[in-house]
Amino acid sequence: MADVAIIGGGIAGLWTALELLRAGASVTVFDGRRLGEGASTAAGGMLAPGAEGDGLAPAVQAFAIASRKAWTHAAADIENASGIDIGYADCGSLIIARDDAEAAALKAQCAQRFGAWLDSSALASTYPQLRHGLAGGAFVAGDACVDNRALIEALSAAVTQAGGTCAFGLGDVGVRVGGNRVLGVRAGGRNLDFPRVLLATGAWTSHVSIEGGSATDLPPVMPVKGQMGMIRVAALPMRELVWLGHTYLIPRRAGQLVLGATSEDAGFDPCISEGAVEKLADDARWLVPSLAGLPVVERWCGFRPATPDGLPVLGQTRVDGLYVASGQYRNGILFGPLVARTMAACISGKASAIDISAFDPKRFGPRHEH
Ligand code: GLY
Repeated sequence: MADVAIIGGGIAGLWTALELLRAGASVTVFDGRRLGEGASTAAGGMLAPGAEGDGLAPAVQAFAIASRKAWTHAAADIENASGIDIGYADCGSLIIARDDAEAAALKAQCAQRFGAWLDSSALASTYPQLRHGLAGGAFVAGDACVDNRALIEALSAAVTQAGGTCAFGLGDVGVRVGGNRVLGVRAGGRNLDFPRVLLATGAWTSHVSIEGGSATDLPPVMPVKGQMGMIRVAALPMRELVWLGHTYLIPRRAGQLVLGATSEDAGFDPCISEGAVEKLADDARWLVPSLAGLPVVERWCGFRPATPDGLPVLGQTRVDGLYVASGQYRNGILFGPLVARTMAACISGKASAIDISAFDPKRFGPRHEH
């Protein structure tokens, strides 16, 4: 198979590179930044179609469930390929109902979210570390989590070991087009020819420089900013992902309790607001009294890639040979293995394991520049 260039060294880009390398392609992954400076590192690492599946369009929910299934094998595969422990855990999710109104709504949604209902006393006896007097909770056994920072390191190592090239930290990286066909990339001030180019560029997808073509050929992808924080604990209070309204707690190895996340229409503003992260920490301390007095020791933010219709963009663009894997929104880590599998098939001209026609980048039509 001819050479493939992938722009974007996050989970979608690296994992697709690995699938293509295994199918016999020669692949170079380019990134203007260094490894781990995008959303893949900023994320929390939830693999939670149960807790996060509410409100997803049916095609996205089906993709989420299929990708969650793929994770079971994929986690062991990436660890074997890289020799790096990625902290995958079948931990389940616990969604908390604070009052009777939340309890009634959550109980009604339990089947749809694959959850088992725990009433107030069952919740208190199963989870004595939580504050007393909660109205109930739903336990979703199928949800899981992964240490996404370790995952990025592992995918990068696996790509290199499979014979791929990672060209990171190059400053501006763009795509070159001529006569409605992709010609290659421009990276580190040089033009390099590639017959196929994949943009796995997350929230920056609409902003990739496209020499000889038009930005209107790229699908509309907007950033939704998420601020997060981390509390260090001597012992993690629970193994489950826990949801309290829009706040969530993710237990990570080495006593790290990750707290997420804001959801802001703020463009690419990188500022961290101490108040926003402290609100997440206050929610966590309210729910788990033993966290009282423990400070937030790390704060960061990332940019989710969102689309106008809430569906990912997976497939070939209007430009022949130019592909996109973006628009994963809140589910970039969860979608990792299935995005890789479906995009590798698409780029190789093979049938996809799952129908991704609803995610066709061309569904938006050419955009008009303002
Ligand atoms: N998947 C969690 C988030 O986007 O905040």
